[in-house]
Parts: sequence; C-alpha cells; structure tokens
Amino acid sequence: MARVSEIRFVGYAVPDLAAERRFYADVWGLTEVPSDDEMVYFAAEGTDEKYVVRLREDAMQRIDVIGWAAETRADVDALFEQVKANDGKIISEPHELDTLGGGYGFRFFDPNGFTLQISADVERGSKRELAKGEAIPVKISHVVMHSPDHKALVAWYEKALGFRVSDWLGDFMCFMRCNSWHHRLAFLPGPPCFNHVAYDVLTMDDMMRGVGRLKRNDVDIKWGPGRHTAGNNTFSYFTTPNNNVVEYTSELEEVDDDHHQHQVHIPKPETMDQWGSGIGGPQTMPKPSPDAGLWQAAVA
Ligand SMILES: [Fe+2]
Repeated sequence: MARVSEIRFVGYAVPDLAAERRFYADVWGLTEVPSDDEMVYFAAEGTDEKYVVRLREDAMQRIDVIGWAAETRADVDALFEQVKANDGKIISEPHELDTLGGGYGFRFFDPNGFTLQISADVERGSKRELAKGEAIPVKISHVVMHSPDHKALVAWYEKALGFRVSDWLGDFMCFMRCNSWHHRLAFLPGPPCFNHVAYDVLTMDDMMRGVGRLKRNDVDIKWGPGRHTAGNNTFSYFTTPNNNVVEYTSELEEVDDDHHQHQVHIPKPETMDQWGSGIGGPQTMPKPSPDAGLWQAAVA
C-alpha cells in the first residue's frame, strides 16, 4: 500500500489578510517566503519544507487546500490510484505543479469535501537549527478536523492514504499517523471543518515562552497550557485574527510505525490534560461550523 509520508502545508482564505499576515510573521513566529503571486506564504525555519502556511484574501473564509507529501513520484501515482479506487473525487490528475515550489502531484476531495494535494519532488526551502528559547515553530505537527461521520473518515484515510490509527479517545477522537510521529492527523465528530493546526516547538520551555510572547501581543490562550495523553504532547491553543485555531505543541511521542498498537483512552479531564493546571478546555474553543469551501476546488 502506498502511504502519505508527511504534512506539507495548509492553505487558508481569510477576509482580513493583513491581520493574519501580521499574526503569523510578528507573533506566531513564521517567516514570509517571497512569491510572485498575490498569495502570502510562510515557512517554519526548523524545516526545509518551502512553506507551511499559504494565505489568500477572500470575503469567503475557508480552508483552500491541505498539502501532504509522498516520498516519490511513483508513490504519488500509486496514491492517485488508491484515492480513485476508494471513490475519492479527483480534482486534477498527477501533473507537474505550477504552484510555488513546483513538484509532481494531484488534488482531490476527501470524503468531508476538503481539497487535498499530494506531491513529491517539490523544491526544498532553507532550514536551520533553532536555538532553545527562540520559541518559534519547527514545523507543522498535526491537523485536527471534524466530520459528521468521523469513523468512516478514519477508515477512508487508512485505505486511501495509508494512515494508521495511533490512539482513540473514547470513540469520538481518533489520532492517526503517516510516519513514526504519533499523530499528524486527528478526527472528531461534528460539522466538516478544521478544529486546529498544531506547530511543534523545540521544548516545553519554548512553548511557555511562546505563550508569553502571545500574551504580550494581547493574544490570550484559549486552552492550556497542558499535556494531552494520546501522543503525550504538551499544548496551548490560540486563535488567529480571522479566528483560525493554532496550537503550540512539544514533546510529541514517537512510536514504532510498523508495530505500534493503538489504545483507547478513557475520556476524562485528566486524560484531556494530564496537568489540569491550565485555563479553559474544549468548551472554550471556537464552536465548529461547516467550512465554506467544501467540494469547491481552490482558485490555485
Ligand atoms: Fe492538537
């Protein structure tokens, strides 16, 4: 079976591009990448992924595209066949991409209606060793989405894209991996939409320094700081100026990709947050509502 190997980027359309751009550059800690189109691209300096966030201004706020990696062109082709075989709605067949960084890839709708792109052979960006205390993102750590039929979506991501189940929280939250990191993706019940995008920072100390930087920029923590049980990662959740949820996380568990057996964690407060010391909870996060861009291919 062909498998997706990593997450690359998330593309958003937002009504207030200027505010979102300022947030990612001046507060969140990403670095703008020059481009010759009207979109704004951000890299995380700890990864050589050319960009991890793509922003576009539009009155209709939506998720434009979620970019995933395949290791080789042959994997792209094999994943294309797997998506077709599992009734994935194809947007474009594998071709040379003309988006920033190029590469070879295709797009399709997942069963939720989100636009996904799988690519290989993309141009690499620059990367450096971050210093402890810089408190800026190393890379994207995971994406969490809601779905009206989250169990069917879990099965689809297993069959079509080769994800593996790493843990369940009760029967309502499923954590999935595409490599040795405990999760790159998780699903929750609810209307089809994003819950949040998480960014790895180097250490727990970096996360706390990040919390402090956001506080000095009048961005209050929505939930955290805390430590989840599934994946054992620390967390702090915030919202961007356009109300997209972002997370700083650290110390995510690495597992044996081929042999890791999932557990079912009992949902209770000390499972959601082992520390129990932070503010808020799932109830203080923005209410999920259907994404406006479902089943509509992004403009680019
Ligand atoms: Fe998370």
